[in-house]
Amino acid sequence: MESPRKDYSSISPSAKSLLMMKGYTQIPYAHQTAQLMHGPEVFNLNFDDKDFWFWARVMHFEARYWSIDQLLKETDATNILELSSGFSLRSLDMCRKSKVHYVDTDLPDIITTKKQMINELGLESGLEGKLELLPLNALDEKAFSDITTRFDNGPLTIVNEGLLMYLGIEEKKQLCSYIHKALKQHGGQWITADIYIKRPAEVLDMMPQSKQETQFFEEHKIEENKFDSYEAAKKFFEGAGFEFIKEAVTDYSQLSAMPHLISTLPPEARDKKDGPPKIQATWMLKAK
Ligand SMILES: C[S@@+](CC[C@H](N)C(=O)[O-])C[C@H]1O[C@@H](n2cnc3c(N)ncnc32)[C@H](O)[C@@H]1O
Repeated sequence: MESPRKDYSSISPSAKSLLMMKGYTQIPYAHQTAQLMHGPEVFNLNFDDKDFWFWARVMHFEARYWSIDQLLKETDATNILELSSGFSLRSLDMCRKSKVHYVDTDLPDIITTKKQMINELGLESGLEGKLELLPLNALDEKAFSDITTRFDNGPLTIVNEGLLMYLGIEEKKQLCSYIHKALKQHGGQWITADIYIKRPAEVLDMMPQSKQETQFFEEHKIEENKFDSYEAAKKFFEGAGFEFIKEAVTDYSQLSAMPHLISTLPPEARDKKDGPPKIQATWMLKAK
């Protein structure tokens, strides 16, 4: 299998870009933590103009973040494992508000930086829940299994956003098998926001992409790694032993990026009745 040798840390710079975009939203701690980020980011996003496409991206990632929270609220999850969390602080937010045991994981460098950020902002105290920030390569079977033993008895909820599109089909199957095994042992569910569908050529042509972003997408085969359709995604997860439970439904009117998006909407798009094509979904899955 290729994953033990693959350098997954080449994916990590995307977490910085995401945080810098989320810094313009009401996502908990995103603004504060984004302020600590300095230097260039990998997609060479245009933070000066903040045009329609900038806000479209921000809104997409804001919606994706809340979609996981929405499905989490529909469970009684008290044991939560987040994979490839990047600089997201959902873990801290949840541990401030409730008595959950939240294990927040990503590759070692990201976790080290994230711990420094929490420390610098003085956010480590006053938690109701138990927060653990730990390094984990989600494709390392032994490390994955060891992490799941940290939880007391009771169902486990695994969450992730922004990982599957970096994984080839065999790596996806591998990750699914680790998650499946953990859910079979503990009970619980997997909430993943990574149901991305290959974008039709006209959508690809429409969206401006910097040279750096195009290069990053090509290097990581992002478009290729997406699912062909939602039906194909369902088939894939069924084949991996999962049962589809439900999909998150976004209320776009609640998103903090929405007013910005509307104010930058190009005139030709204002009169359009149909919204943007759906490119992503967040699903709750259970192990059969
Ligand atoms: C696009 S970012 C998403 C970060 C965060 N979930 C968010 O949405 O803001 C992708 C993240 O996946 C992490 N990553 C890549 N390969 C990984 C692996 N094998 N195991 C764990 N994390 C991984 C990267 O370090 C990076 O933080």
